[in-house]
Amino acid sequence: MKCCLCLLLFSHLFLNTIAWNCEVIPGTLKQIDAGLGIVGGVNNDNEAFLFLGTRFEKIGSSLKHFTVGPAGELGANSSNNVFKFADGSFKEIPSIQLKQVDAGGDQIIVGVSPVEDVFCLIKDANNARPSGDAPWIQLAGKLKYYSCGPYSCWGVNGAGNVVIRRSVTGATCGSPGAFEAVDGALSMVEVASDGNVFGVDTQGSLFQRVGVTTSNPPGLRWTGFSICPNGHKHGSSVSLRCSAETLCSSPPPTLTWSSTPRIPLSESSRLQELILISDLNFTATHSQHRVTFTCTITYQLQDENKTAHNNIDLHVQYAPKISNSSSCIRTDVTVCFCEVDGNPSPELEWHLSGRPVTNSSNTFVSEERLSSTDLRSSITLHQSLTHTSTMQCVILFSVLIGVAGVALVR
Ligand SMILES: *[C@@H]1O[C@H](CO)[C@@H](O)[C@H](O)[C@H]1NC(C)=O
Ligand SMILES: *[C@@H]1O[C@H](CO)[C@@H](O)[C@H](O)[C@H]1NC(C)=O
Ligand SMILES: *[C@@H]1O[C@H](CO)[C@@H](O)[C@H](O)[C@H]1NC(C)=O
Ligand SMILES: *[C@@H]1O[C@H](CO)[C@@H](O)[C@H](O)[C@H]1NC(C)=O
Ligand SMILES: *[C@@H]1O[C@H](CO)[C@@H](O)[C@H](O)[C@H]1NC(C)=O
Repeated sequence: MKCCLCLLLFSHLFLNTIAWNCEVIPGTLKQIDAGLGIVGGVNNDNEAFLFLGTRFEKIGSSLKHFTVGPAGELGANSSNNVFKFADGSFKEIPSIQLKQVDAGGDQIIVGVSPVEDVFCLIKDANNARPSGDAPWIQLAGKLKYYSCGPYSCWGVNGAGNVVIRRSVTGATCGSPGAFEAVDGALSMVEVASDGNVFGVDTQGSLFQRVGVTTSNPPGLRWTGFSICPNGHKHGSSVSLRCSAETLCSSPPPTLTWSSTPRIPLSESSRLQELILISDLNFTATHSQHRVTFTCTITYQLQDENKTAHNNIDLHVQYAPKISNSSSCIRTDVTVCFCEVDGNPSPELEWHLSGRPVTNSSNTFVSEERLSSTDLRSSITLHQSLTHTSTMQCVILFSVLIGVAGVALVR
């Protein structure tokens, strides 16, 4: 009778995932901008990088802050000099000092100075390659971070108060409005190129503004924003739990973990009342994506051992990475390859000197999915390129604030 009970209890074996923390993807870059395509970012040593060819490459004088958007690709160095990417390199915009810049508005540049004065430059002046006498407009007020989207700009001041400026257009970046207070306490607010607004508080938690529309730019409220709704984020902690009842078995059952492919696991079992629990706690890494974890329970009965298994497939999200096999070959035609691995699998786009290139009679794009996370794209250009042309392989992925990445292939 007792044994029958034990066998019945086999069906109680369950395996589930509990508790995981979402974290922003760690990695080389500490700041990477949301825009039409990320062209690079800034690492922990305040060095600005672009994807140049097959790797991140440091840009001339180091930038502490980097931005990309309809206004171009801009950065500020540690001396607060401002640079704009043009014709293959960063060119200084003279006569302005900004510690943070943003290119997300309608081709306007906005930024804050070292003393937190707020400046903007209208579309025409930006597009005319800003010079020493560029007509920067100073906005009334002080902010430590200022970011624009398609129809409004958001800022945060030194006290963490959040403000919005409505109806900011390419022609009138400074007027007619003023800053209006919005609820919330943040250390950074960023408007994505689709108008979505994201904030980060002093604890590093990510928030999204709910209800932001063209007719109601301030939206309704902040909501905690999970960037890993369907899987574990690279770098987040994962806990897998397997449990089994011990009621009638003596000696008690054993729980063991295994994985396919095999990775080293450290597990710990404990008895809680009459339930044996084994937790497998670890930090998710991208190499664990699609690994199957198996919990095996073994009951030692009088004359036989009974085992049961339960499986779970781990899904780990990780930022796209351009493979070092990406490159261009230039003969009478130019052929470029770009290979990128990321989960969710990113989309790729080709840009020639900043402009998207599509499939046409003299450009041929082909894509091949090497796996569920690996994408390879090649472009063949039947045209000669000028010395200064740059070929960019642009990664588009949407999990993390709709950001995107770019590789520059010269
Ligand atoms: C920032 O750029 C300016 C102008 O190019 C340069 O003089 C200065 O040395 C740079 N600062 C740093 C820290 O690289
Ligand atoms: C594993 O994580 C779970 C859930 O967070 C926790 O209850 C348990 O104590 C952890 N076990 C170990 C050995 O750290
Ligand atoms: C059951 O498993 C235990 C531990 O692995 C082993 O010592 C024992 O011989 C096994 N019994 C049978 C009947 O296979
Ligand atoms: C590319 O990266 C792989 C592994 O990351 C390395 O083994 C290989 O040598 C690299 N190739 C080049 C050309 O850098
Ligand atoms: C480009 O066009 C060719 C043929 O016209 C097609 O085979 C290929 O899949 C297209 N590439 C993309 C990325 O749509």
